[in-house]
Parts: sequence; structure tokens; C-alpha cells
Amino acid sequence: MTKLRLVPLDDTVVFPNMDVTLPISVGDDELIFLVPRHEQEYANVGVVARVTNRVRLPGRMKAVAVSGLHRGIAGAASPDGEGRLRVEVEERPDVIPPPIRTEQIEREYRAVVEEILELRGDDGRISAFVRSITAPGALADTAGYSPDLTFEQKVQLLQTLDVVERLELATRLQRERLAELQVRKRIREDVESGTQKQQREYLLRRQMDSIRKELGEDDASVVDEYRKKIEAAGMPEAAREQAERELGRLERMGESTGEASMIRTYLDWLIAVPWSQRSEERLDPVHAREVLDADHAGLDDVKKRITEHLAVRKLRVDRGFKDDRKAGVILTLIGPPGTGKTSIGESIARATGRKFVRMSLGGVRDEAEIRGHRRTYIGALPGRLVRALRDAGTMNPVIMLDEVDKVGADWRGDPSAALLEVLDPAQNHSFRDHYLDVELDLSQVLFVATANLADTIPGPLLDRMEIIRFDGYTIAEKVAIARGYLWPRQIERNGLRPEEVAIDDDVLQIVTMEYTREAGVRQLERELGTLLRKTATRIASGTATAPVRLDLPTVREALGRQKFYSEAAARTAVPGVATGLAVTGVGGDVLFVEAAAMAGGGGLVLTGQLGDVMKESARIALTYVRSHARALGIDERGFEGREFHIHVPAGAIPKDGPSAGVTIVTAIASLLSGRPVKHTVGMTGEVTLQGRVLPIGGLKQKVLAAHAAGLTDVILPERNAPDLEELPGDVRDKMRFHPVTSVEQVLDIALEPDGVLLAA
Ligand SMILES: Nc1ncnc2c1ncn2[C@@H]1O[C@H](COP(=O)(O)OP(=O)(O)OP(=O)(O)O)[C@@H](O)[C@H]1O
Ligand SMILES: [Mg+2]
Repeated sequence: MTKLRLVPLDDTVVFPNMDVTLPISVGDDELIFLVPRHEQEYANVGVVARVTNRVRLPGRMKAVAVSGLHRGIAGAASPDGEGRLRVEVEERPDVIPPPIRTEQIEREYRAVVEEILELRGDDGRISAFVRSITAPGALADTAGYSPDLTFEQKVQLLQTLDVVERLELATRLQRERLAELQVRKRIREDVESGTQKQQREYLLRRQMDSIRKELGEDDASVVDEYRKKIEAAGMPEAAREQAERELGRLERMGESTGEASMIRTYLDWLIAVPWSQRSEERLDPVHAREVLDADHAGLDDVKKRITEHLAVRKLRVDRGFKDDRKAGVILTLIGPPGTGKTSIGESIARATGRKFVRMSLGGVRDEAEIRGHRRTYIGALPGRLVRALRDAGTMNPVIMLDEVDKVGADWRGDPSAALLEVLDPAQNHSFRDHYLDVELDLSQVLFVATANLADTIPGPLLDRMEIIRFDGYTIAEKVAIARGYLWPRQIERNGLRPEEVAIDDDVLQIVTMEYTREAGVRQLERELGTLLRKTATRIASGTATAPVRLDLPTVREALGRQKFYSEAAARTAVPGVATGLAVTGVGGDVLFVEAAAMAGGGGLVLTGQLGDVMKESARIALTYVRSHARALGIDERGFEGREFHIHVPAGAIPKDGPSAGVTIVTAIASLLSGRPVKHTVGMTGEVTLQGRVLPIGGLKQKVLAAHAAGLTDVILPERNAPDLEELPGDVRDKMRFHPVTSVEQVLDIALEPDGVLLAA
């Protein structure tokens, strides 16, 4: 065993047969032992090397040229007399295995290396060098020259003493290198071909451009296209000038810029306005009435107003009157939900031969919705009116402004100005949409507005409207509507044939009265839908055979138990409850005012979400009863040390208005006198401190509600008596009306006579 000077090589591996120059001094030693080291950690195999030359580097540094001989395994180490580390080395020259074991791998190794060298662009010298090596161990060691192997891989190679194993390892490492090099090459080629492709495309595009120019298909032709469309659109002078100005900009700009596409969008919208399109208007009042009758039952009033409107227009046209801009009116249909406002709007369009577009204003947020955004906005669009005209395709459609009353509440900015302009016949021939920015003539449009309540329509708007009221239907009218329209429609919707199901009028009436409580007929239509759906199911599943007659038990089975009752009798059985009539957003309704007294300081508690006006009328009522106690036959001591509570169910619904005055007075008077209110009586009217009864609004709706709720007597302010004219004949005949001027009269009629309670 030899002892050799240990020379650590930081992060470097020297293999046998390698010649290297190292910047170290080795004294007089001829043989040294080179061991790779990484961060103070030594490999356990090193290389015994012969010092072939001693050289002096510039700057007095010493260096030695060494040549690797063979491998050796490091043993015990100890410092010599001069303090240098010497190590015992077990020398391990390669043991050459029989060729049969290496030939195959050798061949493969050479092939892989050849390929690598080819990829690296070797000029032949390295491959000649590799070919010159014949010993298999040395051949494997040539992998150590490779710059792509890591330090660890090289150490691994060095430490593999068995030649066959080493050759296999080297082959594997070289094969990995080869694969990596091939991938790198492919990527490089891909990138190269990519850039080439772009260049190619660019060239082709240029050629295509010139070809298109040759054929006359360049930008200019897009512009020509627009020019033709503008020509055909029949725009008024100003709009046409504007269009041509934009077209000029487009032409100068070329097609591909973002600005150009904005101009094209603008031109598309400008062309989409049906500038020169009109429907031939039919102004024949007789024909119109026929159409209206065909689509809707009842509503005589409404239909009459609409036909009158048409008749006047016809006369003016026939007699050659010039269009008087101030004479136009906006028909506005006001009434509870489901009374046919929207659908009669459609009928108006049909009756006059115009197109129909519905523009729902409920939920409209700001002015720009109506008028559009200015073009300086990104993504600007025209407003709803322009869109409505585009959808209609004519300049004289019926445009229904649905739910104008839902508009004010959630509007930002001042969009009502835009609506005002639209609806004002004196201005709307020159309406300007912010986006289009040209004048539009809306004077040919027939605007029809709808609303549930007049109260929330902004005043100036209301002022320009001709109001037609829909007050809701009587039971008889509802039955007629159901029979003539809803029933046939639902039969068809549920896939049935008219002859397959039948229902009697009295059953229809029960459905109307006991399953719905509404001014309109939506709920009724839904109930009929349910009824017919279940019938259709029965027929389809074979549990019933057509024709089916729907009698009361079948109806109850399909719709469940009765949903609405006439409550008046039960509610007013005790003193202190009076039946009032009110108008809400969904039509007329019956409400019960309850009064109670308790020990306290004479105060007044009000509950049931009453508005300020209603609270005031409750105070007035209490004061009136108190100051007229004696005249009303009430014991004055009844007020002392007591507090009053007035409640109007249903507590969750806000209520307001002065017309409950008489009802509150009656409730308090009933409570204090102990005389219950007659259960057939409903009442409405405002009360003054002097006990006078003042007129109220919405009488027709209130009476209809009273009728529907089964009341037979209605107390109303005398000044409202003329309104009774508006009532349908059958309702007027069935009910008793009591016009009054003072509270005494009210109490006379409303309260049960003295002593009834005692007698009972
Ligand atoms: N007199 C009638 N004759 C025939 N069908 C009617 C009549 N009144 C209402 N209807 C039908 O009732 C349904 C509801 O009517 P519509 O939608 O027009 O109500 P609306 O008054 O617009 O209600 P809202 O205020 O909720 O918008 C429609 O299908 C309509 O055809
Ligand atoms: Mg509607």
C-alpha cells in the first residue's frame, strides 16, 4: 500500500488519462493522489497522478502539470513531518472484462457520443479522439470530459470501479445528454420556423392587400357600402350630413383602427333608425272598435275614449288640418294590476295598424337609459327610445311606456326631463338622443303610458297626459272575461280542446269570489290555469275521460279550500270595529278599523303603519267624538282616566290618506256607546273637526271592493254621489248607497240601534 500526498480538488474531477495543470506545489513528490472535494466532503475514490512538469505561473505562483494514471481508494490519512496530509491509497487500475461483456455497450456508447458530437457541430477531432480509445474503462471515462455532466455525476462515474458498470453508467448519462440536446434543437427550430411563419404571413397579407386593391375590394368598398345604406335610409338632411361627416372620417382613417370600429357602430345605429318607414295608419273608428271588442271584454269607457281619439284624428286628416303639434295627447292608462292596461295597448296598435313596442320604465335608473350616453363614453349606446324605434322598424309605432309611476323613485340625475320632452307634442318632433346626436322626429309615434297609481307620476308629466282610468272589474265582469278570454286561452295553453272541458257560470263565479281577491284578473287566470292543468293531467293519465264537466267538488279538490271569506260579519260583531273602504296600489280594498280603550292618561296610540295624514285624521276623530259626546249619546266620563288605541290591520301594509276619517270616528263611537257597527256597511269619507264629511277619491274602486267583499251598504260623502254614475249597472242595482254630509248621519246609519246588544 502506497502513501501519497493528498491533493483535494474542489468541485473538480480528474479522471485517469487526463492531463491537467493544477496551481499547487507538491514538493518533490512524483506521484500524488487527487481527490474530488465538495464543501469539505471528500469522494472515497481518487486518481493516482504522475507529476509531469513543474511550471511557474506569472506572479511567482507555482503550478504542476499532472497526468491521471488510474483509480485508487483512500485509506487512513496522517500528516507527515512537514505537516502535509498523506493518505494510504489502495491502487485500483481497471480490470479489463472479457470483450463479450462490453462489446455491445461499447458500440452503443460510441453511437450515442457520435450523435452528440454531430449535434454539437464537432469538426471531427473529438470523434477521432474517442475512436482512438480502445480500452472500455477509458472509453467510459471520456464521459468525464463532457461539460454538461454535473460534479455529482462525474464523482459517481469516478467511484464506479467495475468497468462494465461504469460503461453502462456513462452510456446512460450520455443518452440523457443526447435527449436534452435533441429537445433543445427542436425548440430552436420551432422558434426559428415561427418567426419565418410570421414573415411569410406578413408578405402574404401585403400581397392580398394589393390583390384586393386590384379587385376594388379595399377599405373604400366598406365605405361605399355604408354610402349605399345611408342613401337608402332616407334620412332627413341634418342626419344625412352627420352620417356623411362620419363616413369621411372612416375613409381617412383606414379600417383597422379601434376608432374606425366605433365609427362603424355609430353608423350602424344611425342606419338602424327607420327614418323613412311608416305603417299605413288605419283611422277607421268602427274597425278599431271591432278590434278592441275582439280582444277585451267590458272596458266600455276605455274603448270609447280610444275610438273617440281616433275619430278626431281621422277628421283632422280627412279635412286636411295641418298637424297641430299642441293638440297631441299622451293616452295614459291608470289602474290596478291585471286590469288589461298593457294588453289593451297592444290592441290599440292592432286597431290602428301600427307596430307595437313596449318600453318598461320600471327599474329604469338614469336619464342615459332613455336618452343614451354621449359618444365620448366607452361603450356608449343609444337610449331606449332609439332602440324602440329600431325594434318597431317604423317611425309611427305605438310605444307603450309601461309603469311610468315606477320611474321617479329610483331615478338618478333628472331623467324626467327626457321623458317630458318625449311626451310633449310641442317638443318631440326634435328629440335628440345623446349618442346619435341628431334630431329625431317622434311626433308620429303614438305614446301610451300605463301606471298603477297617479300619485307617484311626476306632476309635470301628469299634466301632459290624458288619463283613462281602469278601476277594476265586478264579479260579473270577471266571470265574463274568464268565460270569453281567459278560459279559452288556458284551455289551449294546457293542450286541451274546447269541447273536452266545460264549466258552468256559477262555478266560475265561485272560483272568482272564493279563490281570488283582486281588482284585475291575473290571479283568476292563474287559478283557471291550475284547474285546467290538473284536468289535463287527469285526462292524459286516463283517470278521467273527456268531455269533463268541472263541478264544485272537482274545483275544490283541484284548488284546495276556499282562500277568501266575507269577513265583515265576523269582524264587526263586537263594538269598536268599523269597516272602511280604501284604495291601494292593487285596487280597492276593505279594511277594518279597530278601537280599544284602557286605563291611562287620555292619550292615543296608533298602530298598523299609518301615514301622517291618517294619524291626523285619527286625532281629529277622537277629538270630535269627545267634544260631541253628549250629542252622540256617549257618557263623557267614559274618557276620563283612559287611553285609546286604534289599529288598522293588516299591520304590515303601510296605509295613508284622510278617507278613513269616518271609519275611525265610527269605531270610537261604537266602542264608547257599546253599539256594534252593522256588518253590511262599508264607509269612506274625510272628517273635519266640526263633523262635516268631505269628499274622497277612488269611489268606484272602493265600491267594487265593497261589493266583492259582500257588503251591501256604502256610506259615502254627498259630494261624491255623482261618481256613482260610473258604476256598472249590476253593482249599482244590487247595493244601497247613503250619501251623507255629517258624522251624525254616518253614525245613524252605521251603528246598530241602541239596546240591540241588550236585547241580543
Ligand atoms: N277586459 C279584459 N278582457 C280580456 N282579457 C283581459 C281583460 N282585462 C285583462 N285581461 C287579461 O288579463 C291579463 C293581465 O292584463 P295586463 O297584463 O294587461 O294587466 P296590466 O293592467 O297591464 O297590469 P299591470 O299593472 O300589473 O301591468 C292579460 O292577459 C289580459 O289579456
Ligand atoms: Mg302591465
